[in-house]
Amino acid sequence: MQLNSAPSLSYDLQQWSQGYQSQPHEYDYWIEDIEGEIPQDLDGTLLRNGPGLLDIGGYPIAHPFDGDGMVSAIAFRGGRAHYRNRFVRTQGYVEEQKAGKPLYRGVFGTQKPGGWLANLFDLRIKNLANTHIIYWGDRLLALWEGAEPHRLDPQTLETLALDHLDGLLKPGQAFSAHPKIDPYGDRTNPCLVNFSIQPGLKSQLTIWELNRNGQPLRQSTHEIPGFCFIHDFAITPQYYVFFQNPVSFNPFPFFLGLRGPGECINFDRQNPTQVWVIPRQGNQPIKKIEVNSGFVFHHVNAFEEGNQIVVDSIGYESFPEVEPGSDFRYTDFNQLAPSQLWRFRLDLNHKRGDNAPHRWRDRQLLESRCCEFPQIHPQWVGKSHRYVYLGAAHHHQGSAPLQGILKRDNQSGETQFWSAAPHGFVSEPVFIPQPGSEGEDEGWIVSVVYESQKHRSDIIILDAQNLERGPTARLHLQHHIPYGLHGSWISNQQLGIGRSGVQTKH
Ligand SMILES: [Fe+2]
Repeated sequence: MQLNSAPSLSYDLQQWSQGYQSQPHEYDYWIEDIEGEIPQDLDGTLLRNGPGLLDIGGYPIAHPFDGDGMVSAIAFRGGRAHYRNRFVRTQGYVEEQKAGKPLYRGVFGTQKPGGWLANLFDLRIKNLANTHIIYWGDRLLALWEGAEPHRLDPQTLETLALDHLDGLLKPGQAFSAHPKIDPYGDRTNPCLVNFSIQPGLKSQLTIWELNRNGQPLRQSTHEIPGFCFIHDFAITPQYYVFFQNPVSFNPFPFFLGLRGPGECINFDRQNPTQVWVIPRQGNQPIKKIEVNSGFVFHHVNAFEEGNQIVVDSIGYESFPEVEPGSDFRYTDFNQLAPSQLWRFRLDLNHKRGDNAPHRWRDRQLLESRCCEFPQIHPQWVGKSHRYVYLGAAHHHQGSAPLQGILKRDNQSGETQFWSAAPHGFVSEPVFIPQPGSEGEDEGWIVSVVYESQKHRSDIIILDAQNLERGPTARLHLQHHIPYGLHGSWISNQQLGIGRSGVQTKH
């Protein structure tokens, strides 16, 4: 009898890698091939962003994060759905499509053809606009963390221009791809909170809060010692929370045309993560607390509890470093440690000097299954959330592509899981509250699933209260969407479109 044998793979690597084929076409059609029924009160648009091209004129890119941003809009209205996608016409996209080859180097290793000499001392980086898409202050913005957003037309997805938020951003200034919407930020109105990092030996962190019209409510700038690679952050009613991952940066291989800057980052395993707790208002000092978090890309949420701040995050044992010359399409998942859901407790009474014992009692593993792309009900941002939704691996153990949607109940510790294995691969699950509902899990989970056997993508709609019942509706697209990154939901009410379909906002 064989004990503790590893479970068989739930996926075929070749099938998974097909989801990274470029999608060069732009579509515009009503989705007619539907299993099940679209809920009548699902009334708005799911927006997705991610790399649409994994090659430029036949030259493969080195990492999906280097792919040109392609935005998809799935508009729901009266039980029907419409699909549209458009590439963000960034300067680099337009120039490279015309040239038929890469003209820029990518952050994660894409090089111009011609070897290192062709790349030597070329430090220009393309604003990819490929990471997130949000609608705020009557602007639809495609985000990329290294530079300013691109503004798109919310009806047509046409690229309008770079957007500097009425002069708030300097040309080229970063505006992170992970803004947070504080549901009670401006007393009763929501506000958008976002940040910018200017890395260096001392990194400059700028934080903005914008009201619902996109006008600044607050702005602050802070100096953080050392190099910062901070992709995401968290907020509570009183604080901003930043995890400064323990990494260092050696820029010389980038200068010499040998590596992308993302390949010059080294994880310093022996060092703790520096957590910066920054008051949103008043003159309280900034607190630095050390934790042992491994590497964190994404946070779930944070909230205050007595003298503690609780932060739920997806932790990696180390930074998933990009090996130059390796092909991401043939990732050996068996060699990777799984990304897992952790809870960190930050003691606000913590004093400098007592870090060592603090590091080890401050974290708790909530979910060991490999997972990423966490989402919660948007009204629970900054307060104690009960439910979290994640893209997750099919099996409980080990690292693997995301094939299912996991719901975790933090109160009971129970989980629900729906899987698209063996041929399906999921993207970020977006939670959409049911109109007029108050319960934290009253709503739908919508996700894009790549169906590898048919080489096309489905949009699935799950009842957030009962994932295991399977999709309420499954919308078969006519084509595939390459694996995406982040997206958001805009209700037709937010867009100013009445139930009749007539624009009501002026
Ligand atoms: Fe992200």
